[in-house]
Amino acid sequence: MKRVLLGISGGIAAYKSAELVRLLRKNDYEVRVVMTHAATQFITPLTLQALSGHAVHTQLLDANEENAMGHINLARWADLFLIAPASANCMAKLSLGLADDLLSTLYLAAECPVYIAPAMNQAMWNKPVTQENLNRLKQHKVNVIGPEAGSQACGEVGYGRMTEPSDVLAQLKTLNAPQLLLNKKILISAGPTREALDPVRYITNRSSGKMGYALAQQAQLLGAEVTLVSGPVQLTAPNNTHILHVESAAEMYAVILQQVAGQDIFISAAAVADYTPDNVQTEKIKKQGNNTQLSLCKTQDIVASVANLTNKPFTVGFAAETHNLEQYALDKLQRKNLDMIAANWVGHAEGGFDSAYNALQVYWQNGQKTFTMTDKTQLASQLLTLIAERLDA
Ligand code: C5P
Repeated sequence: MKRVLLGISGGIAAYKSAELVRLLRKNDYEVRVVMTHAATQFITPLTLQALSGHAVHTQLLDANEENAMGHINLARWADLFLIAPASANCMAKLSLGLADDLLSTLYLAAECPVYIAPAMNQAMWNKPVTQENLNRLKQHKVNVIGPEAGSQACGEVGYGRMTEPSDVLAQLKTLNAPQLLLNKKILISAGPTREALDPVRYITNRSSGKMGYALAQQAQLLGAEVTLVSGPVQLTAPNNTHILHVESAAEMYAVILQQVAGQDIFISAAAVADYTPDNVQTEKIKKQGNNTQLSLCKTQDIVASVANLTNKPFTVGFAAETHNLEQYALDKLQRKNLDMIAANWVGHAEGGFDSAYNALQVYWQNGQKTFTMTDKTQLASQLLTLIAERLDA
């Protein structure tokens, strides 16, 4: 768990800090809040106390607060110090090293990474002195999140809106993630495939693509360069991902074999159809009789094809099973020549296809690891950490 010291300075965007605290806690960060006097005019310490679960710090020279946790200890306690919103005045003070209140004193005392999310009127943001202060803070290794452009509380339009709390959190995670896959190229397949029968019908499966998309997002956080080959899903691609959309197993095969050269890792999270109609009818198939039959032929096995290339990447397959999980997974590991296989139960009440949650049993040559039921984002991060370890080994 990371400990975040959240500094709130005085500005209308202080109302966003309440949501930020809620999101940070939801994402397993422990949060302590420090507010300037001006910030308390915009949002009450009681609100932040209720959301953070701890008394809010506002005074530098207050015996009670110093007894609870002195300001130096508070600075030492933090793994990271986030100041959101950071007003023009707050930025000016920090850039000069002034320490006339608790927040600015904590900035001087903090040895952990510091992040600021500026928020102010667009003219104040554009003022040369504010830009000079910003540059000075950057030179002092302060990480700056935002601000964004748009309409402002004062009715003006321009740069100065505080970045939305969910984006602040996403950027914090990116900037803090250990770069386990830095400079690694990773190819990921996701989602189901659609095998056309005729112009209006197709065969598909229940895959939502959530696992593959979570892997793409988390790989990016770990510093990898990601290419995502996606079957048809209702998801938005993570930022900065090179995404290629496909429909059928044959298209996925062609795109992946075209993209695989130079990749360090391939994760085949897609639920690729094993069989596809022999012939796609060019006209809609007419209803006839009480029974009908479909003639299907086997698709090419993408992951096995990649795993048998001479310069193959570290190749990871998935195995979704309703029974004999270990036996089937180990069999696929050998038969498809994989470096690793992540097996999960499907067709049960919890987890698996279409769910936001899953559990995985991972096997490789002479090793295995269990990841218990958790959300797919967390699971993706755990699996990628294991892949990075195995890649090093
Ligand atoms: O043999 P099975 O389909 O259960 O194996 C699942 C693994 O094989 C998954 O990683 C899936 O992406 C991959 N696969 C494939 N090409 C196919 C069928 C499955 O890459 N035609």
